[in-house]
Amino acid sequence: MALHKDVEAILNKQLIKEFDAEIVYLGMYVHFEKELFKGFAAWFLKQAGEERVHALKIVNYMLDRGGSPELPALTAPKVDYSAPLDAFRAALGHERTNTSGIYECLAKAQKANDPATVEFLQWFVKEQVEEEKWASEYAQMVERIKGSVGGMYQFDHRLEKAAKGE
Ligand code: FEO
Repeated sequence: MALHKDVEAILNKQLIKEFDAEIVYLGMYVHFEKELFKGFAAWFLKQAGEERVHALKIVNYMLDRGGSPELPALTAPKVDYSAPLDAFRAALGHERTNTSGIYECLAKAQKANDPATVEFLQWFVKEQVEEEKWASEYAQMVERIKGSVGGMYQFDHRLEKAAKGE
């Protein structure tokens, strides 16, 4: 069955959010590389890659359903943050925005009586729990150590390992 127009529209709206998160995280990667926080940089580069995977999952699903994915124009991201905490808080904001977007997609798919899209979105529902978890925990940790250069470099080292899956 063809994708309902409302479902197609909301999935296209979510695509903007996923691609936006990708480019925002790339901006954080550039920022932290310049600031020599190599671990934070590696973490956000990894997250940018994950956001692209999310976006492509939606693109491919829409294509599978005969829909028309719309690829958004790039909006230049911020590449300078006054402190690491600003970036981590911004990341949490993006994750919350993406979660709300997924819930809106789900509500629209349910309303359109589209069980395939409801099923498809379950992966994102679970993924967003994980995404909000790291974003919230890391923002709290950076808040806690914000006055300590040593603490910041220690956490940077930890995220370097986390980015490698260690
Ligand atoms: Fe794709 Fe982190 O939301």
